[in-house]
Amino acid sequence: MTDAAKQTNDLRPVPHFVAEYQRLVTKLLDTHSLDEAMSLAVGGTYEKTGEAQANILVQYGLREDHSLVDIGCGSGRLSSALGRRLRRLYYLGTDIDLRLLQYAAGRAPANFRFLLHQQLSIPVEDASVDFIVFFSVFTHLFHEESYIYLQDAKRALRPGGTVKSVLPNDGATRPRVATTRKKVATPAVKFR
Ligand SMILES: C[S@@+](CC[C@H](N)C(=O)[O-])C[C@H]1O[C@@H](n2cnc3c(N)ncnc32)[C@H](O)[C@@H]1O
Repeated sequence: MTDAAKQTNDLRPVPHFVAEYQRLVTKLLDTHSLDEAMSLAVGGTYEKTGEAQANILVQYGLREDHSLVDIGCGSGRLSSALGRRLRRLYYLGTDIDLRLLQYAAGRAPANFRFLLHQQLSIPVEDASVDFIVFFSVFTHLFHEESYIYLQDAKRALRPGGTVKSVLPNDGATRPRVATTRKKVATPAVKFR
């Protein structure tokens, strides 16, 4: 049985992003210590990048009384950094790999929640969250899949809520950070 099949009872075909990322995580765990594998699985520089991600969100107004959904939270670079400074934040991290989620949960405050979710949707009620982040997730998806996620983010965000994503910057080493704010009664998701 494949890693992907072990983690779900769903009989539909396993999406490419699940199969591909789980293969990567398995290979890293086979060849590195747990901490190294969990850091490499999300791109490395675990502490430094997590702090940088948390700084970006705080600069954009994230507060402890806000709610945040971290799609593709991986092994918890962001959640561990946020847990050190915004412990009472309503935080939900989702990912397609259970091993990454378990590692993340072990490094976050007990009130932070983590969910195995292998569909292109935000598992929350309509208009219920202040921030949704996709840090280094769209790089692993087809454009059409990212679009589906962004459409659902529009549904899930409160009016005035914020989507943040890190996008590849063709050929460059520094990624672009994109911000989308939900305006009241605005029909389309637009990048500023
Ligand atoms: C490069 S890592 C980034 C992890 C985390 N956002 C961070 O910046 O530390 C990409 C993550 O996206 C997850 N992923 C891949 N496809 C996904 C999907 N369709 N939905 C949610 N997460 C996905 C992977 O399992 C992996 O944890």
